[in-house]
This record gives sequence, structure tokens and C-alpha cells, in this order.
Amino acid sequence: MKHHIIGAELFVEEEGQGAPVILLHGFPLDHRMWASQVQALAPHYRVITPDLRGMGQSDVPVTNISIDTYADDILTLMDKMGIQKAALGGFSMGGYVAFALLRKAPSRFTSLILANTRPEADGQEARKNRMNMAVSLYDKGAAAAKDAMLPKLLTEQTRQDQPALVDSLSLVMESMAAEGLVHASLAMAFREDSVDLLSTISVPTLVIAGEHDAVAPPDVMNKMADQISDASFHVIPGAAHLTPMENPEAFNVLLVEFLKNATA
Ligand code: MLT
Repeated sequence: MKHHIIGAELFVEEEGQGAPVILLHGFPLDHRMWASQVQALAPHYRVITPDLRGMGQSDVPVTNISIDTYADDILTLMDKMGIQKAALGGFSMGGYVAFALLRKAPSRFTSLILANTRPEADGQEARKNRMNMAVSLYDKGAAAAKDAMLPKLLTEQTRQDQPALVDSLSLVMESMAAEGLVHASLAMAFREDSVDLLSTISVPTLVIAGEHDAVAPPDVMNKMADQISDASFHVIPGAAHLTPMENPEAFNVLLVEFLKNATA
């Protein structure tokens, strides 16, 4: 269903009943990346998977936005949906939005899942790469992001073994509005550093890394988990960046167990 947020319609998938769990997708993806997690959690929770502004079926911004804009959208959405408090999960770019949410409204989140994400802001080189990505998106459309990301999302082995996963993922990435991805690239390029935030996080936190993730490497994520007072750190073997889709079984075992304890 779509919810009207100030200046945009946001698409939100909602399944199940119970304590609310909000899962935020990464780049260049949308709520569909969480399909396996929605299936695993919906028997026990109200699972909410929005498409961030400009991605999936949500409206593309007409003026520039920041990671804070995405976070404000989620807070407005929670108000509209009558959700005072929720468990919050973010994958990669969704993690950057989760950090912004914890800066803005920490009392509204009861637990945190950080999957394949990192707290540091971009350096100059990374910013330049995002600018180049923005130009490629204008030149080649969403395929530019797909071509750049696919080899990072899944290991070579998974790409060989699971052609159906590669195909469905490619379709998701190709379906994005190029300009929505331009906004996302620039918002990520100039996102706030969240390293200092980590020691202020007091809710139970699940940190999940992929053994072969070059975007958010396990050692970086382990260090991040060390700075969060109530965090547990796990590495999914044989997975690259997109752990929720590359090995949903292993991911969901961790997620279900974590939420059972965190929401008990
Ligand atoms: C993502 O998966 O959301 C992006 O790779 C994050 C990033 O580029 O920093």
C-alpha cells in the first residue's frame, strides 16, 4: 500500500501482526530484498518493509535529499501507521538510515539489526565514485548501478550456482528509476559519520556480516559491534554483501532468535 508523506507517496509492504519490525533495504534495491525475512517473521510480527523515497515504487524526489530525509520519511510513516515503537533493521544503505533514525528518535526503537553496513562517512575517493555513479546513471540508466553492484552483492560461486537469484535481483535493480538512484548516491556520499553514535546505542543489537563482503568487510563490522554496548556479531560464511538474499536460511536463524529474545 502507499502512504502519503510530506511531498511524496511512499510504498510500504506490511505483513503479519504483532510487535512491529521495520526493515530498510539497501542500494540499488527495494523492499523485495526482504522477501525471505518477511516470510519468516510474518507469523509472529507486523513486518514493515518500505521502499525508500526514489527507490522501488516510491516517488522520486524532485529536489536534493539526504539520509536524514529518508529517516524523516520513516518517522512520518510510523506516525501514520500508528507505530510508537518498533524493532529496526537496516541493510547497508538501510543501515545508514537506521543510524540517522537512532540519532533523531532513539526512544522509538526497541532493538536494532545492522546487516552489512558500516558507520564511517565516505572519504573523498568514495565520494568521487558516487559522483561517477550518478553520471553513469544519467548516461546508462539503472543498469549502471546493476552492473557495478551485482559482482559485489553475491559471491562468484553464488552467481554461478543460483542463476535464478541473479535474474530476479537483476530485474529488481533494472526496475529502479535512475534519478532515484542518483539521489541515493549523493545522499550516501555526504552522509554523516556515525562512529560516535555507536557508544550511545543501548538497545539489543544484532550485527551480521558476510564473510566475503568488500562493501562492509567483517573486520570493520566487528569493530562496529565492539563499540555498541549490547551487540552480538555474526559472520555468514560463503556470503558476500547481500546476506539476507544470498543465504536467507542462515540470516533468518540469527534474526528469528534475536527478535525472540529482544522482544520477549
Ligand atoms: C548498499 O548496499 O546499500 C550500498 O552498497 C551501500 C554503499 O554503497 O555504501
